[in-house]
Amino acid sequence: MKRVYIERLPTGVEGFDPLIQGGIPRGFFVAVVGEPGTGKTIFSIHFIARGIRDGDKNIYVTTEESKESIIRQAAMFGFDFEKAIEEKKLVIIDALMGPKDDPWSLTELTPEHLVNKIIEAKRYLGYGRARLVIDSMSAFWLDKPAMARKYSYYVKRILYRWDFTALLTSQYAVTTSLGFGFGIEHVADGIIRFRKSIIRGELKRYVIIEKMRQTEHSLRMHEIEIKDGKGMKVVAPTQYRKEDTALPPSVTARMIAAELQKILEIPDEGTEA
Ligand SMILES: Nc1ncnc2c1ncn2[C@@H]1O[C@H](COP(=O)(O)OP(=O)(O)O)[C@@H](O)[C@H]1O
Ligand SMILES: [Mg+2]
Repeated sequence: MKRVYIERLPTGVEGFDPLIQGGIPRGFFVAVVGEPGTGKTIFSIHFIARGIRDGDKNIYVTTEESKESIIRQAAMFGFDFEKAIEEKKLVIIDALMGPKDDPWSLTELTPEHLVNKIIEAKRYLGYGRARLVIDSMSAFWLDKPAMARKYSYYVKRILYRWDFTALLTSQYAVTTSLGFGFGIEHVADGIIRFRKSIIRGELKRYVIIEKMRQTEHSLRMHEIEIKDGKGMKVVAPTQYRKEDTALPPSVTARMIAAELQKILEIPDEGTEA
């Protein structure tokens, strides 16, 4: 059998790339999901920092933190994003609180504005292999969760031709961490899920690759570590099962019901439609 060669982009997170045969296949759109504080942004920062190192064109869209906050977080791990911006290797699109006079501020939180700005940034950075982070996609469907899948599909369909390898982060509640996913997961070529759990009074963080097309990826949940001055690192496979970090089934069932109701936009019983 002929071996298929696949170009892969390393994530730059120590210990992570070996879990996915060296990196994310070029052109993939990967969903990075998990609850707040699990490490999605830091993972994304590493991905971009590696792109800067490798000479890729890099675009980071931030919707939940300011551009300054991303630059500061990167600096804590020794990545100079400010210099990369000056050297035209990186564009940070601030969709949260970018000043009006910054050409890379996003003034409207719509998928159309988003893709137009990203394409503009790609043109500015020039031809060639590019990395894109949208952190997070959730901001675009905050008030209309039913649109999640449609928006994700739209973003992928338009940006597909621009030579991006992309990470799209999404905030997920406990319910969806049980595999009850909506939105970007449906259109994603890969799904990287971050989890957290308190084990004997200590916060532990984990990562599991739930999907990576064309890749023989690890099927184990791995513990990760985030250290000042260093950043994220995969420590070791964990013994914990999904059940150990999940909520009791009765609680989960109720939360899923509530979530479903929200997504399907069914009015509560007793309220006027
Ligand atoms: N300089 C640092 N040193 C060690 N840990 C840090 C540092 N900066 C952030 N963290 C850890 O990372 C967490 C935030 O991770 P983040 O990637 O922003 O989460 P998410 O994007 O999933 O909400 C913080 O709650 C903290 O535990
Ligand atoms: Mg974040």
